[in-house]
Amino acid sequence: MNTPPLSAEQEALFRLIEDTREHVFVTGRAGTGKSTLLQHLAWNTNKQIAVCAPTGVAALNVEGQTIHSLFKLPLGIIGSHDEDQSDATRKLLNAIDTLVIDEISMVNADLMDAIDRSLRKARGRRGEPFGGTQIVMFGDPYQLAPVPPRGDELRYVQDHYRSFWFFDAKVWVGEAATDGILDVGSYGADLNIRELVDIHRQSDPAFKAMLNAVRYGRVTADIAEVLNTTGARTPPDPLDGEHPIITLATRNDIVNNINSRHLAELVGREQTAMAEVNGDFGRGDAAYPADLELKLKVGAQVMFLRNDTAAFGEPPRWVNGTIGTVTRIAGETVRVDVEGEEFDVEPSVWEKYRYSYNPGSKTLTRDIVAEFTQFPLRLAWAVTIHKSQGKTYDRAIIDLGSGAFAPGQTYVALSRLTSLDGLYLSRPLRPRDIQVDPDVRRFMASAVRGTPVA
Ligand SMILES: Nc1ncnc2c1ncn2[C@@H]1O[C@H](COP(=O)(O)OP(=O)(O)OP(=O)(O)O)[C@@H](O)[C@H]1O
Ligand SMILES: [Mg+2]
Repeated sequence: MNTPPLSAEQEALFRLIEDTREHVFVTGRAGTGKSTLLQHLAWNTNKQIAVCAPTGVAALNVEGQTIHSLFKLPLGIIGSHDEDQSDATRKLLNAIDTLVIDEISMVNADLMDAIDRSLRKARGRRGEPFGGTQIVMFGDPYQLAPVPPRGDELRYVQDHYRSFWFFDAKVWVGEAATDGILDVGSYGADLNIRELVDIHRQSDPAFKAMLNAVRYGRVTADIAEVLNTTGARTPPDPLDGEHPIITLATRNDIVNNINSRHLAELVGREQTAMAEVNGDFGRGDAAYPADLELKLKVGAQVMFLRNDTAAFGEPPRWVNGTIGTVTRIAGETVRVDVEGEEFDVEPSVWEKYRYSYNPGSKTLTRDIVAEFTQFPLRLAWAVTIHKSQGKTYDRAIIDLGSGAFAPGQTYVALSRLTSLDGLYLSRPLRPRDIQVDPDVRRFMASAVRGTPVA
């Protein structure tokens, strides 16, 4: 696997997870190497770990399983509903030493508590948080929020929780008595919150400080001035191919418009690569890690959706987010120019996994249950800020359109850039573009005060 050697603080967290049974929340600003650490952990742990994530695509990215399918949970608010557990599910959940959850900020409090209850039940240890399983969570609440509940679900959450965030789940805050659960003492589990501090994506201290200000909603007039004057310039022509630049926009329709308009402007023949789907991937585009129908032309600007699996010891030719230009389309390969070097890209296989319990070896096994095969490419004159999560770009046009509509959105967009030199703004930032969720502020402030931070 192509992960860089761990830094000292990443290594210390790896040891904490590996050598103790503490519940750990690994957080940190954008680009501090959370995903890198998760990948290292998945490959190097000696524990029986199961890796899961709240959405299908997030689970594919970490080669894990969705939380709902791992725990066999119903969709929507789960409440204190006691689900039947099959023998297979019980054995499986029993065999997990450490449950790793990625993109934890998208997990709501109700789901967090359902995970707790399922593990207690499966393991027959109802008086112990998570039935004694170690929980390791990764994410940055300043970036992505859970999907807000609506209607009855909203009312349920308001009645039962301080907020819908995972950190307000009863298993952590200990308010279970109100639900008639007798063993109050086993709620309010200790959570070791560890923040990675060193940023690897950006190197300029001044730019890092600006990003920090955006993150915490402390943008001064001076900072706004620097960002806005730097960003207010004509971007390179998106069709010159020499200087690929991506637009990060708030909404899907804006992104689709930009991509189809530029594709139409190219003269060559349009060709469509159809994905091959084997097994059950769920329905709808949101379930797939790449386009079902990938429309390309020579000259199209594309983004890589995965890291290169280069030969051992070779440097990766591209990473997740690398931008290039299609120079040739021939059967099984698409040739892509990345900064003057051309690579023949082949279809890539995304494997959907499911954990099961192997009674023979008394261990967890991970089986492939479905496969999605497509070129690891997507048209990339534009992408939504949401889909830019986790990626790194040298240059980008940030188009906040009629305004950022979610907390953290502007922070996610700006923090994708490796330097201020790469920033183009389609309009100046406005104060309203910078929103910080007050619950996140409250939790992270208490976390930093209340617990040791790496
Ligand atoms: N120890 C390290 N040494 C060198 N580079 C590193 C190290 N850890 C991470 N990186 C690099 O820094 C960049 C950001 O890392 P990564 O994507 O893991 O951060 P992240 O915290 O998950 O960011 P985000 O919050 O934006 O998802 C990547 O290019 C990664 O390869
Ligand atoms: Mg990440």
